[in-house]
Amino acid sequence: MTAPPEIERVLFTEEQVAARIREVAAEISEKYRGRDLKLIAVLKGSVFFLTALARAIEIPVKIDFLAISSFGGPSQVPPGMVRIAKDLDDPIQDEDVLLVEDIVDTGFTARYLLQTLAGRSPRSLAICTLLDRTVRRIVQIPVDFRCFEIPDRFVVGCGLDYKQLYRNLGYIGVMNPEKR
Ligand code: IMP
Ligand code: MG
Repeated sequence: MTAPPEIERVLFTEEQVAARIREVAAEISEKYRGRDLKLIAVLKGSVFFLTALARAIEIPVKIDFLAISSFGGPSQVPPGMVRIAKDLDDPIQDEDVLLVEDIVDTGFTARYLLQTLAGRSPRSLAICTLLDRTVRRIVQIPVDFRCFEIPDRFVVGCGLDYKQLYRNLGYIGVMNPEKR
């Protein structure tokens, strides 16, 4: 499959992504063996990763979704000022919960979500991210499972967007916005 011109280079091919998701799913299945696991994804970016991960996990899973939005306009607001725009359908009390993220960047979003979910008394709470950009981290959060560490470049594909586009790419690509 040929990448469009605005994709500067492919960081991880569809095959590499699929293979790595299988490895991480095996780690998760091992860790939670004998229990049921609830996967929680943040709309919309994490949905692609959640479905791929869920299909590769070998223990029983439930899924639920929430959506967040920034307070006010995106630019005048400090990063991480998010609120829940659509809440989970069901409580998570006494459940083993795995927050599924597309990318942990500064860490603000993940910290807010982990704090919010922790307040609902899950039996356990962990986070699994497809991409981890630790070079841009501002708030330290524990990342329990991750597929790939990435450099400080804007990426799209596998659920990640640029202005809502490119989520459906099967690979992770570095985006060059000037080419659009
Ligand atoms: P954080 O709160 O800075 O960790 O930001 C996480 C959110 O920023 C992610 O859920 C994405 O929506 C968005 N984001 C950060 N980096 C990228 C990127 O390289 N491509 C697309 N979205 C990104
Ligand atoms: Mg997002």
